Amino acid sequence: MSPSYKLTFAILMMVVWACGFSTEKRRPKRIEDTQDQREVKKVSEADIINKTTELGDSITQIAGSVFMGKISEKYAEGGYEAAAEFCSMNAYPLTDSLAKEYKVFLKRVSNKYRNPNNASSDLEKQVLEAYKYSVEHGDDIGANVQFIRPGDTILYNKPIRIPSELCLNCHGSPSQISEEVHSILKEEYPNDKATGYKVGDLRGMWSLKFLKKEIVQGL
Ligand code: HEC
Repeated sequence: MSPSYKLTFAILMMVVWACGFSTEKRRPKRIEDTQDQREVKKVSEADIINKTTELGDSITQIAGSVFMGKISEKYAEGGYEAAAEFCSMNAYPLTDSLAKEYKVFLKRVSNKYRNPNNASSDLEKQVLEAYKYSVEHGDDIGANVQFIRPGDTILYNKPIRIPSELCLNCHGSPSQISEEVHSILKEEYPNDKATGYKVGDLRGMWSLKFLKKEIVQGL
């Protein structure tokens, strides 16, 4: 199987197994660097960045559709009031298979977050600011990959913009959010900052952390 099929399979497993734990807690222990790996793998930073971009793009694309699927399913069951309680990424963790294979953390972060667990780190804030600047200037924005130094981690980010009015039922102006949804949000997220958006706005970004050695081994 090619790596991208393996990845798709791993993520499909995640969809099948969905729900219940956070990937942060389940990150496998680091494997010690061995002399062998250092000798065998001679790859450039560009190779690593390209591979990370490819993996990050696939993971976020699939995670995004799982997420949309969940919202639509809950909406069909009980409207946005039902969906509002099921919007957390914590409900769609990566499975052991994906975690084992790529040792990846997956989050959505925002400078104007609803859940404080989704607040951006200092480094993520800088990326979000750069995206925001580009959006304001009408420039295209895409994935961004960087090494977190010192260390062996690679950060992959991809912007999340408001694609349609669907999102405004829970992230729009007060007049776009129903009384019922408003009261659920108020109770669950008393310090909610994630309202007042319009279609096209930058809502936040995907934030994935990969271990460099895992990427190198997959090359
Ligand atoms: C049914 C209500 C609902 C809809 C519709 C909805 N969201 Fe959310 N959104 C939420 C809730 C609730 C959270 C907080 C989740 C959590 O606790 O992690 C959230 C969190 C997020 C976050 C994580 C950052 C943060 O603010 O905590 C992003 C990004 C996001 N939503 C984007 C979107 C986008 C894009 C759409 C449209 C495709 C959308 N949402 C539609 C309710 C909704």
